[in-house]
Amino acid sequence: MRLFKKTADTPADKPITQTAYTLGPLQSGPPCCVPEPLIRVEKLSLHYGAKPALNEVSLDIYKGCITALIGPSGCGKTSFLSVLNRLTDMIPGCRVSGRVVYDNLDLHNPKLDVQALRRDIGMIFQKPTPFPLSIRRNIELPLREHGISKAADLNDVLQRVLQDVGLWDEIKDRLEAPAQALSGGQQQRLCIARALALQPKVLLMDEPCSALDPISSGVVEDLIQRLRGQYTVIIVTHNLAQARRIANYAGFFWVRERAGCLIEFGQCKQIFDNPAHELTAAYVHGRRG
Ligand SMILES: Nc1ncnc2c1ncn2[C@@H]1O[C@H](COP(=O)(O)OP(=O)(O)O)[C@@H](O)[C@H]1O
Ligand SMILES: [Mg+2]
Repeated sequence: MRLFKKTADTPADKPITQTAYTLGPLQSGPPCCVPEPLIRVEKLSLHYGAKPALNEVSLDIYKGCITALIGPSGCGKTSFLSVLNRLTDMIPGCRVSGRVVYDNLDLHNPKLDVQALRRDIGMIFQKPTPFPLSIRRNIELPLREHGISKAADLNDVLQRVLQDVGLWDEIKDRLEAPAQALSGGQQQRLCIARALALQPKVLLMDEPCSALDPISSGVVEDLIQRLRGQYTVIIVTHNLAQARRIANYAGFFWVRERAGCLIEFGQCKQIFDNPAHELTAAYVHGRRG
């Protein structure tokens, strides 16, 4: 994936090349994340107009791992995710400072191709957001926007990603049906399939299970587990049991002096079983928050 735009002063840059689709069945089995930072966040602060929302957050996101972000409402978790694929660009008055380095690239370099970045770093929201189109078109539309239009390629990707999220057998006979006719859990898996179709490296998930019933939530959680190793996942969740079950690393956010800050970051087991900070202990034991 090329993340820099072709510009007059970077003549060596070529247009973004299209990679072959070789996603295949997701890996299963033991976690295979490596302690190698893929995203480094240094002193990240964010303001909405005059209002501070994040204050000097620093942490590393490790490749192939699942990182859970926990903390009460309003402590900046969604804002943090939004910085990582530059959704904050679209919010008038939003200012970001500090440094975010993704795959050795400065995320705020003016030459960064934001469209390519968003292909690399996909986002899944709390409420499933299928387009008001057929199931097939939901997967095809972003692919077409990224220059993939051959029917055979589109069909291959469609089948592969729907298999990856466990939807193919459920919906292969009604691909032309409206996506919004699917159940909430199926819609969320379709949105994950749509993100996977673009072969991202990182998936940002903002409370992806909280709008789902317990059975659908379990299915989506199992799917997220299966993404480990092949994708780097950052998940915001209010479900502490879920964070504990699925995450390798956890970060605990809290509001201090009206701004969200990171109180503690570490291996998930340490955060839950042996937190270093008393606020973390109070939160994970249900005494605060
Ligand atoms: N677009 C926005 N404009 C102004 N304030 C915002 C905006 N989005 C979030 N905020 C504020 O920033 C703070 C952090 O919000 P958010 O990142 O959504 O927290 P969380 O996801 O942890 O609930 C909150 O006080 C929220 O009201
Ligand atoms: Mg939020």
